[in-house]
Amino acid sequence: MIKTRDKFSSLGFVVAAAGSAIGLGNIWKFPYITFANGGGSFVLIYLIAIALIGLPIMLAEILMGRRSQQSPVTAFLYFSKDVAGGKLWSGVGFLGVAAGLVILSYYSVVAGWTVYYFGKCVQWSVSGFNETIASSLGTEFGSFLGNGPMQVLFHAIFMSLTVGIVISGIKGGIERVTKLLLPILMVILSLLCVVAMFTPGFGEAIRFLFHVGPIHTEAVLEAVGHSFFTLSLGMGALITYGSYLGRKQSIPRDALMICVLDTVIALMACVVMFSIIFSVPEAERATTFTKSATILFTTLPRMFYSLPGGVIIAPVFYLLVAFAALTSTISLLEVVASFLIDKLGWTRKKAALIAGGTIFSSGVLVALSLGANETLSTWAPFGERDAGVFGVLDYFASNWMLPVGGLLTAVFVGWFLDSKLTRDELEEGHGMFKLYGLWRFLLRYVCPVAICWIIIAVIGGRAFN
Ligand code: PFF
Repeated sequence: MIKTRDKFSSLGFVVAAAGSAIGLGNIWKFPYITFANGGGSFVLIYLIAIALIGLPIMLAEILMGRRSQQSPVTAFLYFSKDVAGGKLWSGVGFLGVAAGLVILSYYSVVAGWTVYYFGKCVQWSVSGFNETIASSLGTEFGSFLGNGPMQVLFHAIFMSLTVGIVISGIKGGIERVTKLLLPILMVILSLLCVVAMFTPGFGEAIRFLFHVGPIHTEAVLEAVGHSFFTLSLGMGALITYGSYLGRKQSIPRDALMICVLDTVIALMACVVMFSIIFSVPEAERATTFTKSATILFTTLPRMFYSLPGGVIIAPVFYLLVAFAALTSTISLLEVVASFLIDKLGWTRKKAALIAGGTIFSSGVLVALSLGANETLSTWAPFGERDAGVFGVLDYFASNWMLPVGGLLTAVFVGWFLDSKLTRDELEEGHGMFKLYGLWRFLLRYVCPVAICWIIIAVIGGRAFN
């Protein structure tokens, strides 16, 4: 009996892929790096990076997935038959699977924090949030990080949810959950934007976000680097999701929609956070954005509770971040699970459980590297800046795995695949793709040059995370 591949329904692909793209990268990382890189100028460069680098690579990944009907490793094998380099190209797929393992190991730990803070906020909203709690938020977060069993527990909760959804399959699991969570996330974020409009810092936040000042090279590198992480590119997540995309769907239209949704959500998150931050006195503000990991948990609760309606806003916000993270963790696990299904012929249940169990175990090392275990917390093969298993994995994935994966995918599709094949696939379900020439040019020249620049900067000691 020939087994037909599971398929998303017509809207299912956009929702699931946007769910993968929208995550901690948008709500946790983007506001921080935008703040650190001067606001409007960074936003402008970021938009350019998405249009010139992110979007073309996204089209390349989706077309590879849909044409081959395979997840990354077997997708590269499928195309590599008549291509120079042959089976060696499947190494790019393996790199993607490894990146899924690495990223999910630490992503799930951070996602677990959002669940913990959701619970904390419910507790504070019910029993009262006072000055004593406010002034101890920093130490509270520090001791939570250093509490090994708690870190492992919340990581386990998040991994269990993720595995459960992936086991339920493409339509019944991933699509159903993202179709439910993504609209809720958008409604909550829109409501938070409305609340932000009434805060004293709103005007300044908007000015900061859209005022373009001098542009620095550092910001350009950061923007290009972040575009991979935020769009879930460079590790085959969209090859995998693309393999479940129906032939009647338009790849260019869907990819554009995913990029727009991801960017809009990131900007909305900035509006909410900056409005709150600019509402506090300037002297306090300086200490607000000191460390990306801490903002959401050490500063924002106090700010939420200083707003009217804070008792509702605070827990709802953490729920939103948890939802955003969940729709991303399922795509990370799906990359690894679908590899085991496609390459080794495992059942979905076995693949999800074994992949999830392996990632849970490596995540335990991450969970214990935040202070609970001295050796794991101080391990620093790439220098002190990225110390600890957490820092090391984040550094390695964001600086090496995703850019290298993105570069090789761009080169493979742009230079090694037949232009008739790529054009046919992009026009299937779309009709004539007028921007095909531009897309191919960006993929062949602009993307490789920009990514090589990042890699050279990383070799020179620059780090994005
Ligand atoms: N795009 C996600 C975020 O911005 O949080 C992170 C991510 C998810 C990266 C899935 C890669 C991936 F395959």
